[in-house]
Amino acid sequence: MKCPPRPGRRLASLLGAFVAATLAVAGTAGAQPAPVQASTLGAQAAQSGRYFGTAVAAGKLGDGTYSALLDREFTAVTPENEMKWDATERSRGSFTFTAADRIVGHATARGQRVRGHTLVWHSQLPGWVGAITDATTLRSVVRNHITTELSHFKGKIYAWDVVNEAFADGGSGARRASVFQNVLGDGYIEDAFRTARSADPSAKLCYNDYNIENWSDAKTQAVYRMVRDFTSRGVPIDCVGFQSHFGSSGPPASFRTTLANFAALGVDVQITELDIAQAPATAYADTVKACGSVARCAGITVWGIRDSDSWRSGENPLLFDGAGNKKAAYGAVLTALGGTAATTRAATTPASAAALPARFSWSSSGALISPKPDATHNIAGIKDPSVVYYNGKYHVFASVASASGYNLVYLSFSDWSQAGSATHHYLDRTAIGSGYRAAPQVFYYAPQKLWYLVYQTGNASYSTNPDISNPNGWSAPRNFYSSMPDIIKQNIGSGYWVDMWVICDSANCYLFSSDDNGHLYRSQTTVGQFPNGFTNTVIAAQDSDKYALFEASNVYKVQGSNQYLLLVEAIGSDGRRYFRSWTFGSLAGSWSPLAASESNPFARASNVSFPSGAWTKDISHGEMIRAGYDQTLTIPACKLQYLYQGLNPNASGDYNSLPWRLGLLTQTNSTC
Ligand code: XIL
Repeated sequence: MKCPPRPGRRLASLLGAFVAATLAVAGTAGAQPAPVQASTLGAQAAQSGRYFGTAVAAGKLGDGTYSALLDREFTAVTPENEMKWDATERSRGSFTFTAADRIVGHATARGQRVRGHTLVWHSQLPGWVGAITDATTLRSVVRNHITTELSHFKGKIYAWDVVNEAFADGGSGARRASVFQNVLGDGYIEDAFRTARSADPSAKLCYNDYNIENWSDAKTQAVYRMVRDFTSRGVPIDCVGFQSHFGSSGPPASFRTTLANFAALGVDVQITELDIAQAPATAYADTVKACGSVARCAGITVWGIRDSDSWRSGENPLLFDGAGNKKAAYGAVLTALGGTAATTRAATTPASAAALPARFSWSSSGALISPKPDATHNIAGIKDPSVVYYNGKYHVFASVASASGYNLVYLSFSDWSQAGSATHHYLDRTAIGSGYRAAPQVFYYAPQKLWYLVYQTGNASYSTNPDISNPNGWSAPRNFYSSMPDIIKQNIGSGYWVDMWVICDSANCYLFSSDDNGHLYRSQTTVGQFPNGFTNTVIAAQDSDKYALFEASNVYKVQGSNQYLLLVEAIGSDGRRYFRSWTFGSLAGSWSPLAASESNPFARASNVSFPSGAWTKDISHGEMIRAGYDQTLTIPACKLQYLYQGLNPNASGDYNSLPWRLGLLTQTNSTC
């Protein structure tokens, strides 16, 4: 059977003259230009690459006022009590993570980062731990607690408070007496950090304490000496948390100095549990400014949302009153968040968030992945990649094209240097089957604990698999729609229905698709109904010049912000493929151009350097390397990477037989 036709089967370069005439000024794809308003704490903090978080209680997630504020204002969460020892390992070896999982699930589905709090602490510690007197037993109990908890949440935690409050108050600078200190001695802190690093190398590891904000205090100095010792000896520590439970006079005058001095040791600093008696606006503003003036101050967490949620509720120390109204301190924080950019991160950590820049520049690899024809697969090109990094490996799905049509291939590798030697698993040998299958998109649908592969077959289709690494685990294709939605039939003209893309927020999933005729469509269903129920198909963006809004649309959530990013592939005046970009504040919202023209493209040969040789002039259908792998399609805001298809510029002939290869772009103008 001949495969249904695929867009752009004509040779792209033949389009040059026509497109030049129509694309002199790139259109805005139906966008209503509106600057991204940083009207929330999280969005405002993201402008300088920081997060703004809050402590969260699992039991309050069902409170509508509470969760509406949480979802609107905050880009990070810390479980207030749910990850503590008395909540997770009440009796030895018996672990419960239900309440903490609820918080992590809520946050992850919204692209909020999670601070893990806390592993080794003298308080909220079950009696059975406090009763241990034997060092060997206690050491193995502590290691097991850390390893089990970190393994459970592996890959989902931005930073762990590994050890909490290990130093004594007052002028001694001594360690606090605790079962850990008394039975194990000074080495227990170092041992905890080393254990944590091996259990989850992707999380930042913090030491967290209170009354260490004033530089000259003996307790501050003692913690500083410990961190300096750790960094000088290579003990794995990435950050110091300053709890910042302040009285009504707010932070000490030296707070900025303290943050800067710790940061100079090569660690991030974070304000982790901020609350201030009576919440004076200036005290809050001073605290925020102290963080904003230190590049390695990665973010601020307040210890609760409304005054009524606070552990110090009698002192009304938070940013929202008991009814959820913004207090004066809220406005002061929003204003003060315009600090200088956060610029540095520890190398071991996931990318932190920032507003996307208005211009992009990239460096490209050579062709990393080429077709691997075998006796029954006479493949000419490998195209349309989808990629997730999961369980220590990149998992790449792509179209394979030949004169006879399209199907899919899967490969995995742990490092880009191994991409070329990875085995190609042809998915026509699986239940996905032979025939027209193209342009895959892969993600983990967390609510169902299932991987989805979305692709085009003439309809929008999908297969599922409990194990992404098992190519034989995919189910047979099923369709999202009973038939092409009417609005597409009415607008598709002589185009093709292609490039299906699913992304979900906390409530809904959206299915985007293109028609090679200047329209981007969007259907929606609820998170609960997915993959069924896609209806309400609308035109999400359009351009009267179809080549300016052609195909291969990607939509992503930008980590640590309330921004979404839309990329659409266009065909330029030179006949070559490139990407335009827009941002928007909600998935069903309207778009604002970001880098959306030929002269200021998102990614085009003109803003890409090729240190290993300019092997392509097309930057065509691809996908961003994500920060996670679930249905929220969250990408980092910094150091973007984009896997794309490129082509020998001299190649010609039948579109399906062109020798497409895959290469990787790395952003070179990241400011964070
Ligand atoms: C507090 C919680 O807010 C309360 O709900 C709980 O009863 C006691 O602990 N330092 C810390 C936090 O590191 O874990 C504490 O949180 C506040 C002080």
